[in-house]
Amino acid sequence: EKVILAYSGGLDTTAIIPWLKENFDYEVICCCIDCGQGEELDGLEERAKLSGASKLYIENIVDEFCDDYIVPCVQANAIYENKYLLGTAMARPGIAKKLVEIARKEHASAICHGATGKGNDQIRFELGIKALAPDLKIIAPWRMTDLWTLNSREEEIAYCHQHGIDLPFDASQSYSRDRNLWHISHEGLELEDPAQEPDYEHLLVLGVTPEQAPDEGEYITMTFEKGVPVSLNGQTMKVSEIITELNALGGKHGIGIIDIVENRVVGMKSRGVYETPGGTILMEAHQQLEELVLDRATYEVKKEMGNKLSQIVYEGKWFTPLREAVQAFIESTQQYVTGEVKLKLYKGNIIKAGTTSPYSLYSESLASFTTGELYDHHDAEGFINLFGLPLKVRAMKLAETEK
Ligand code: ARG
Ligand code: SIN
Repeated sequence: EKVILAYSGGLDTTAIIPWLKENFDYEVICCCIDCGQGEELDGLEERAKLSGASKLYIENIVDEFCDDYIVPCVQANAIYENKYLLGTAMARPGIAKKLVEIARKEHASAICHGATGKGNDQIRFELGIKALAPDLKIIAPWRMTDLWTLNSREEEIAYCHQHGIDLPFDASQSYSRDRNLWHISHEGLELEDPAQEPDYEHLLVLGVTPEQAPDEGEYITMTFEKGVPVSLNGQTMKVSEIITELNALGGKHGIGIIDIVENRVVGMKSRGVYETPGGTILMEAHQQLEELVLDRATYEVKKEMGNKLSQIVYEGKWFTPLREAVQAFIESTQQYVTGEVKLKLYKGNIIKAGTTSPYSLYSESLASFTTGELYDHHDAEGFINLFGLPLKVRAMKLAETEK
């Protein structure tokens, strides 16, 4: 029997390979899904084979990640608990989908992942797998506490050694990280105490702090068509290329670093630092265009739908009718989100430098203080009388009864 292991190449998922063979007698097929984690993929093939896997798939889903998951979240302005741009959460459904696809191709009977039993990722992987392949068995070693007895990096390294796996794994403590094209997350070490300031020098991977950013700001321009980013600084590019470039620019200027205590689905609070340099710029640019284009009432409902989508994504409920319906709403609001946004990046800040759209609802003559044709000041008086009527009636009643 075959099992598909979601493999990152790190110590945890490497130790799982001999563990699966030993405890279940499975043939282990590793699957590393590339969502843009970059250099972390070097040397993976030998590592998996050395560890006893019969096969390693490296599947690049970067463009799918951008088009099917990132873009809808940008359009929705999906942000969890006011800060988190969902980098890890967004990538999970695409990973689950790929794991299922490989499981089918290999006629495997189970999928195994290395997420801990205390986090969100276990939920996201497993809801994804259940929705797409309800018949597949799911193995989560970290929750099988009587079989999985490796509770530190040292123990995992020793276990690997016992099984003839001699790899240069580092026994020292490190942050728990998850990286892809959109972001990198950092959890653990000093971050576990919210009273402590993050050790940014030690921690940052994608960029620098605002203090270390250049003293000179830098302008960028971006264009969007129907809510999809299509060009950066005058060059038409794929979304993945735009994000790659924006990551470099944002990282250089100290943009998109957040520090948050968030509420995990499993009930606990956890503290994390996230770097989302390009994503932060992209979302800001998109929002600026929406400011010009969306009417007030649509904007209001869209904010709620965006919050809803952020919750859906955070909770791993991507493959659900609710997500499809919310996404359809968001998509229909994007029809006129077309235009150009100019921004200045400066020491952690994204500063507006001009936005234009052929569909802008902003009317200079209407908004300006000199009177125009369309707006009659006298109309405002009647409007305010009616708009304020309930307040006035109540105030009169209170005055009367409290006498
Ligand atoms: N707390 C974030 C989330 O739930 C980040 C999780 C990072 N995952 C990881 N395996 N290191 O989305
Ligand atoms: C994990 O538990 O594997 C990482 C953290 C999380 O998923 O929330």
